[in-house]
Amino acid sequence: MAKSYSRYVCQNCGRVSASFMGKCPQCGTFSSMVEEIVRDEAPAKSPNAARGLTGRTSPRPIGQIAAGEEDRLHVPIGEFARVLGGGIVPGSIVLVSGDPGIGKSTLMLQMALEMAASQRILYVSGEESEKQIKMRADRLQPKDAKPLPAELFLVTETNLQTIFDHVREVKPTILVVDSIQTMYLPELDSSAGSVSQVRECASQLRELAKSNGVSVFVIGHVTKEGVIAGPRVLEHIVDTVLYLEGDRFQAYRLLRSVKNRFGATAEVGVFEMRERGLAEVTNPSEAFLAERMINAPGSAIAVTMEGTRPLLVEIQGLTAATQFGNARRTPNGVDYNRLQMIAAVLTRRVGLKLGEQDIFVNVVGGIKIDEPAADLAIAAAIVSSMRDLSVRADVALIGEIGLAGELRLPGQMPARLREAQKLGFKSAIVPKRLRQGEPWPQNIQVIEARSAAQAIELAFAAEQRELPKGRKVA
Ligand code: TYD
Ligand code: MG
Repeated sequence: MAKSYSRYVCQNCGRVSASFMGKCPQCGTFSSMVEEIVRDEAPAKSPNAARGLTGRTSPRPIGQIAAGEEDRLHVPIGEFARVLGGGIVPGSIVLVSGDPGIGKSTLMLQMALEMAASQRILYVSGEESEKQIKMRADRLQPKDAKPLPAELFLVTETNLQTIFDHVREVKPTILVVDSIQTMYLPELDSSAGSVSQVRECASQLRELAKSNGVSVFVIGHVTKEGVIAGPRVLEHIVDTVLYLEGDRFQAYRLLRSVKNRFGATAEVGVFEMRERGLAEVTNPSEAFLAERMINAPGSAIAVTMEGTRPLLVEIQGLTAATQFGNARRTPNGVDYNRLQMIAAVLTRRVGLKLGEQDIFVNVVGGIKIDEPAADLAIAAAIVSSMRDLSVRADVALIGEIGLAGELRLPGQMPARLREAQKLGFKSAIVPKRLRQGEPWPQNIQVIEARSAAQAIELAFAAEQRELPKGRKVA
């Protein structure tokens, strides 16, 4: 007779322990240990649980292995293809994660609708009924109603074994699983969404992908703390991790690749959530600057790199006299500690009296910047608000600020400068180059500064009232 015993698994990091512990000794999370029943008998092997990725295990010389690089499936959604590294790789498994309600299901359904013209697709949902998905699909279809594609199959199911039966029956080339937290394997005793279920379901889906050549897309929710639910454990099972982010109250969504075995990481696709689903934003810098008030104090333009793509964003700063005691720093879209640091440098090195000022910083468009290259623009926006003086409208600010108040050169400067120039910026204030590098691009005036103080003065100096090309006064 099979014996069973229980063990405790941390739902955050997957640490296993024989006894209950209030705090996980590995990751330090409190109350994350959950009891799981383990049967001693070997779990019934599912027919898909083929060991070995291809079913054959003899080593071959590297030269004899076909790479098949050009086998990617073409994706008609350009921004999505870009993040994947050019298209869908057959037999790959992709995790699409993000906060609840951000648009993961919408993105996957749109992809499925588009791809169904050339591929057979099975869309499995554990969260919505077939009717709900159908209603959404109707809405996502363009007005000149094409008939819904016949090659797209929907099913509401949470038992992974049954899903494998469906896969065998439908024989899709693309499988979408929405979401991994709702899926379960009956042979495990823990409930759906627990670390063991999520991990085991993901590995079985991975083996399905590798052995059958099906491209699997798995949706995974992110917990409050911002980790992909339950787990880190998912990230190394899959080939690609995509992260859909954005402010829920704003229209822009950024699809980021955090890990990609088949392409560049940190690549970004930009979408806008509309009434009819996610629309591609092919020129994001222009979109982010569209509502900008030219010559308003407290605004500066930064150029950040999102993967290989430069992005111009407006940074807004506001200072206001502190009302009660402690001065507050309230960043939106930039890191709190980074803002603290910039405020300290402005106080000590630029001579601004920020001790009794509340500081608010906002990145327009609801995007998050974690690149230090935006430091200078953040600083200039704060100074601009404090002095009630606008930063020159035709200048972009690029540079990392060091603790000594010096400016440091970020990477990929030519790409940043070219993007600024393309959007009609006449000049850019950048850190002084101490080593010889690639020449600065033509057609944009590059003003070099050694320190943050100097750069900020330059940003206000010789204020030109002339506006960048193609822009109207707000
Ligand atoms: P959804 O894809 O269900 O989010 P997730 O799967 O990540 O939880 O997206 C839900 C949000 O998207 C919802 O708040 C409504 C919005 N939305 C639109 O604005 N337009 C649309 O056409 C669709 C389908 C959704
Ligand atoms: Mg969903």
